[in-house]
Amino acid sequence: MKSKILEILRNKDTYVSGQELSERFGVSRTAVWKAIHQLEEEGYRIEAVPRKGYHMVETPDVVCKEEILSLLETKWAGRNLVYLETVDSTNDLAKKLADQGAPEGTLVVADEQTGGKGRRGRAWCTPKGSAIAMTIVLRPDIRPELASMVTLVMGLSVAKAIESLYPVSVGIKWPNDVVVNGKKICGILTEMSAEMTGIHYLVIGTGINTNVEEFPEEIQSVATSLIKELGEKVNRAELIAACLKYFEEYYEKYIAAGNLAPLKEDYEALLLNRNNKVRVLEPNHEYTGLSLGINEDGELLVEKEDGTVTAVYAGEVSVRGVYGYV
Ligand code: BTN
Repeated sequence: MKSKILEILRNKDTYVSGQELSERFGVSRTAVWKAIHQLEEEGYRIEAVPRKGYHMVETPDVVCKEEILSLLETKWAGRNLVYLETVDSTNDLAKKLADQGAPEGTLVVADEQTGGKGRRGRAWCTPKGSAIAMTIVLRPDIRPELASMVTLVMGLSVAKAIESLYPVSVGIKWPNDVVVNGKKICGILTEMSAEMTGIHYLVIGTGINTNVEEFPEEIQSVATSLIKELGEKVNRAELIAACLKYFEEYYEKYIAAGNLAPLKEDYEALLLNRNNKVRVLEPNHEYTGLSLGINEDGELLVEKEDGTVTAVYAGEVSVRGVYGYV
């Protein structure tokens, strides 16, 4: 009921009476009052005026279950939501839940990660109360070698969500780093449980630097956050809801087509370095070429100097601009 009350109060500019809420939920006015009181304790500022009712004055930047559910516009993505104030890694918890049968779309969100994981064994920092750490469980009926494409679907969704909410210029650094003003703002780590023949589940973990004001010195030149770019705090729950809305839409299109063809145009519109020279760093070999875009499997098409076009598969390869990170 709390998330529904939040939804109603958020969407009304005027007062909503206690009577209306109690009738709507079939509970007593005291029960409504208690729910309102709990919300106030969680940091919501709700004005209560006799004979008029309740009016939301301010919502805090929290990522708890009620707040996110009250903003969700999806059918299945995030509807089964697990929230923790602190967790080692949302990916690890999502894998445990998936092993126990959690349904597709289950979302794990935490206010803080103590052992957040990045790609290639690196650590990922999610300080308390200032970033987004979320992991979604998926059970696609696709071949395991195609799983990395789903990471691109999330990268595109996060970029679109940021673009739709804030006045910043967002880009995607292939395959799935979301970049603002040349610096990384979001990283995605996909993990899989599979056999040769099929996928048991995928977990896609997304970390977004929302209200992080300072980064460790070693990553300052390549990392940024929304608060740094905008000069003001953003509401994390609102951004989570927007990411999930785009993700659900794009993921359904991807599953229906069996490839990324329906997303290619939107992805390429945000792809950084398209038609520019890039450096492709393979484990034992490096070359430069022209980045042409992606194919329907999400591979980056790079035209080498001899005119041949190579499809670069994400795996162990990094692609950089010729002058640095982007
Ligand atoms: C990267 O190295 O770019 C990927 C970073 C992924 C971080 C996210 S935060 C939520 C989820 N839980 C983790 O432990 N990692 C991912």
